[in-house]
Amino acid sequence: MLTELLAQFNVADKSGQNRLVYNAAWQANQQRLIQLGQEFGAKVTVDDYGSVYLDFPGSQPGLAVATGSHMDTVQHGGQYDGLYGVLGGLCAIEQLRQTYDRPRKTLRLIAFSEEEGSRFPAAFTGSKFYLGQPQTQPLLDDAGISFETARQQAVTPLQALPQVHTKRPALPATFTELHIEQGPRLKLAHKAIGLVTGIVAQRRYVVTVHGQANHAGTTPMIHRQDAVQRASALMTHLYDVAQQGSASLTFTIGAITVHPNVDNVIAGECRFTVDCRDETDAKLTQFTQQLDACVAADPQVTLTPTLTVSATRLSHALLRQNELLAQELGLPYEQLFSGAGHDSQIMYTAVPTTMLFVPSDNGVSHCPEEHTSAADLAKGVALLAASLYQQAY
Ligand code: GLV
Ligand code: MN
Ligand code: MN
Repeated sequence: MLTELLAQFNVADKSGQNRLVYNAAWQANQQRLIQLGQEFGAKVTVDDYGSVYLDFPGSQPGLAVATGSHMDTVQHGGQYDGLYGVLGGLCAIEQLRQTYDRPRKTLRLIAFSEEEGSRFPAAFTGSKFYLGQPQTQPLLDDAGISFETARQQAVTPLQALPQVHTKRPALPATFTELHIEQGPRLKLAHKAIGLVTGIVAQRRYVVTVHGQANHAGTTPMIHRQDAVQRASALMTHLYDVAQQGSASLTFTIGAITVHPNVDNVIAGECRFTVDCRDETDAKLTQFTQQLDACVAADPQVTLTPTLTVSATRLSHALLRQNELLAQELGLPYEQLFSGAGHDSQIMYTAVPTTMLFVPSDNGVSHCPEEHTSAADLAKGVALLAASLYQQAY
């Protein structure tokens, strides 16, 4: 069932998946999931941020046992990041219901609206909203559409679908996120499962470098205030600083925009993003202090923080339970730390949370080449089902 579902929820397009939050592809998929949940007899809720919750009621009252991940992708993303945790979670719940019927505790499948930060300069907005933390800053996408406008246009029709509830459900007793590893370690170690011990600290910024737009042919080289020249020197310097820093630091300049972006005009402004991560907040602060200092030294540069997330250690008790289950199922596993951000690091601030990884072929992710074999995907679902069974039956 999982392979067929993945094919239905992904588009066959060599340039990859572009399910940015609240766009048409995102909306179609959340609607597809709502309909699928209703076919399976779930109580369906869509909250005001567009996260979808499928509740399979238990025979006893009490908090739900939840699993899931996010529905959005990065631009030109892959077929598994986020979606595997949603559809794999649904498959695990369905396997359990087919085999053991009704659970004792309610089983909840969650498809968070947004995790990637790929449309608006904010990430984890879905899981943060579930925890009662709505966005307070006005946010615009590249086309100048506000988060609020996009949200209302996409979420209102989903909430208006028949038999859809809209009140955000109570937080669950536990949350387990199934995900692809997005790196090479499990493949290299020939392990089927990664048991995630924790998730990196992450900070993102927009760096704006100012200059003066001017004629490309008439302005002598010594009289230019070229924003691209200044920005490229700053970027090279920041790469050098990052390379000399902590061994576990990652530093990425992923997007660059130039204004006016015209062949024969010296750039008046150049903006670039910085995404930096490290194992601990303290190590990451060592780098961001250097970043702050570089910017403070140059009046032509401004720095706007867009995301700050602390490093997280996930639930040790749930990891230990999953370790024993992996041993029972004969699944080779290893413990690892996640360099990717996940909704689990938000959920863990309020709810005991754990993550299960499956291998990523060639360690490649956030691109159309992202791939995990059906056999590897199935092993993750099997372990998730065993874990949900232990917790909910
Ligand atoms: C999300 O996948 C991230 O780690 O950037
Ligand atoms: Mn993800
Ligand atoms: Mn991702």
